[in-house]
Amino acid sequence: MTRHTILVVDDEVNTLQVMKSLLEDEYTVLTAESGQEGLERLAQADIDMVIADQRMPGMSGVEMLVAMKRLKPDCIRIVLTAYADFDAVVLACNQGDVYRFVLKPWNPDEMEIVVRQALEHRDAVRAREELLVRLERQNRELEKAWAELKEAQDTMVRSEKLAAVGKLAGGMLHELKNQLFLVMMADDFKKRYWYDEELSHFLESIGGLNHIVTDMLDGYRHYVSGRRPTLILAEEDIEKLTADVVALTSSAAYALNRTIEQSVLGPLLVVCDRHKIKRVLTNLIRNACEATPEGGKIVLGRRVEGDEVILEVSDNGSGVSPENQQRVWEPFFTTKGDAGLGLGLDLCRSFVEGHGGGISCSSVPGEGATFTVRLPLGGPGRIPPA
Ligand SMILES: Nc1ncnc2c1ncn2[C@@H]1O[C@H](COP(=O)(O)OP(=O)(O)OP(=O)(O)O)[C@@H](O)[C@H]1O
Ligand SMILES: [Mg+2]
Repeated sequence: MTRHTILVVDDEVNTLQVMKSLLEDEYTVLTAESGQEGLERLAQADIDMVIADQRMPGMSGVEMLVAMKRLKPDCIRIVLTAYADFDAVVLACNQGDVYRFVLKPWNPDEMEIVVRQALEHRDAVRAREELLVRLERQNRELEKAWAELKEAQDTMVRSEKLAAVGKLAGGMLHELKNQLFLVMMADDFKKRYWYDEELSHFLESIGGLNHIVTDMLDGYRHYVSGRRPTLILAEEDIEKLTADVVALTSSAAYALNRTIEQSVLGPLLVVCDRHKIKRVLTNLIRNACEATPEGGKIVLGRRVEGDEVILEVSDNGSGVSPENQQRVWEPFFTTKGDAGLGLGLDLCRSFVEGHGGGISCSSVPGEGATFTVRLPLGGPGRIPPA
């Protein structure tokens, strides 16, 4: 067991000597002859208990103990007092500045018991505090382990779901490609029957459909194969591209009583895969339509920052709650029940990141959301077009 250190403070040297010879067999006893000296001693040594006389010139025992409480709160404080100072001492005890008082004249047996009990009390309090600290630390470690376990479990569930969907989608893609064989020939037929204007026009529409479907299949292929989607890069006028998207989505939006506005832009060349970027913007606009009430407004904006073009889809709909701001990017996360697959934003992110860009969401719940797409003007290699 560690030996406790006791500081005795009294202006009467006799009392100090009596106290020292009474306690020094069991404890290390330090002494001081004034409040000031007592405070200096406290700063120098590791003291477990202070016993102070109340009546001392300059600084009373209680005054010194109050100062000591601020410096070293867990040091136990005892005051020796005569009846005359009773009220001040009782007040100090009630305020927690002093652990207990001993009336003078005290006898050695009583003093030994008081000191032992006080130190036992202090050790018990300290042990309880240490236990609490240990418990809190263990609690924090448990919480951390729980969060890690939960994340691992979520990842497992997600990858199991992905594997199941991947298998299913693989079969579907294969079958679709078989069925689309004729549609895929549309471009060839168009070349062959170029002289028939009506047929050419018809074949061109079918060819457009072919591009959309092939692109869609390619987009979902990364769920099946785990590969990044292949990009077909060319220098594209973003103005024309966004105008196409607005034209494509406006009639559906109109039918749902939503309006889509495009900020006035002007031509701007960006190296990108136009079909993929169109799908990103279409997905974002569809989400915005679904998040807004009737009469909702969606704005497709554009600006250039450094060597990047920023495309923004903003709406005045329900917005995204702070706890969902990260989750919306997870595959299969949806708040739309059976109406949503929860794949739109994951796909958008994969297309945009494939271009060497980034996509983010900001929102004030209840007021709307803005999805921001950053694309390097020069495409994945980040060399801006001349
Ligand atoms: N503009 C928006 N405003 C508010 N919430 C949005 C917005 N866009 C996306 N979200 C939230 O993000 C979730 C995920 O969107 P995501 O497009 O990935 O899937 P989805 O729209 O639910 O289904 P789908 O696969 O058919 O697109 C949505 O369910 C919705 O909660
Ligand atoms: Mg969606």
